[in-house]
Amino acid sequence: MTVREALSWACGELARGGVEEAAREARRLLALAVGEGPAAWSPSATLSRYFLGRLRRLVEARKRGMPFALLAGWTGFLDFELKVWPGVFIPRPETEELAELACGLLRELPPRPRVLDLGTGTGALACALARARSDAQVVAVDCDPRALACARWNVRNLGLDERIRLQRSHWFSSLEGEFQLIVSNPPYVAREGLARLPREVREFEPRRALDGGPQGLEAAKSILAQAPRFLSSGGWLLLEIAPGQAEALVTFAKGGVGLVETRVEKDMAGKERFFLGRCK
Ligand SMILES: C[S@@+](CC[C@H](N)C(=O)[O-])C[C@H]1O[C@@H](n2cnc3c(N)ncnc32)[C@H](O)[C@@H]1O
Repeated sequence: MTVREALSWACGELARGGVEEAAREARRLLALAVGEGPAAWSPSATLSRYFLGRLRRLVEARKRGMPFALLAGWTGFLDFELKVWPGVFIPRPETEELAELACGLLRELPPRPRVLDLGTGTGALACALARARSDAQVVAVDCDPRALACARWNVRNLGLDERIRLQRSHWFSSLEGEFQLIVSNPPYVAREGLARLPREVREFEPRRALDGGPQGLEAAKSILAQAPRFLSSGGWLLLEIAPGQAEALVTFAKGGVGLVETRVEKDMAGKERFFLGRCK
């Protein structure tokens, strides 16, 4: 089979399997299979049985819904790469926007700011924050040891182990001291919506990273209620939320949790996505 024929076969298989943008995915999978990108391919070159076998296995896995990032083992986040492991949440583009918002606030803080990332997963937000300010001291927690191991790998790989402390904790349970900035992308899918998530998410992302309880607000409310005790005066809390949750969270925050200047910002798709609150 030539490269052109292999691409056409892969594209057809992926389209039949319901994979969106099948032609693009076919090219990405072939690049993974042969270990080099389209610039190095000649359409009429014959693919060896070894590479064809690899392509077939990748196409089959993708048809079963396995996310591309898990097949590749890596994903991009802002301007750096993160290792992704099965069972650890794959960072999403919305969270890159959360990171940009957080980095904007971080740059305004006085020297040696203490920063906290709650539910760090691969360590995406913690790494983005540590890279944004070399004097920031970042603490990143997760309740899942597997996520922490993956985050540790990424932190080391990015040379940030001196400035990011990883810790097992159920939200604030094992934390002490005050932070000038707390960020989190907590689980926020309403429980009854879990079954309607795309297969790629439903079957390949860990439930604890998605399930936000009956209305999807359990984790966010728990963080909101406890955050003021761990924020220094004037410190910021930033949360990623699901569209439709903003009003409930702003009302909850105004009900006396100790946050002022609460506001909600939209993501690039125009959806209410980020909750911001400042400690008195
Ligand atoms: C949606 S994922 C976000 C991961 C990462 N921050 C990102 O944005 O890519 C939520 C993370 O919160 C963690 N988590 C869930 N419940 C937790 C809890 N009670 N305490 C600490 N971490 C928790 C999950 O293990 C998961 O890694």
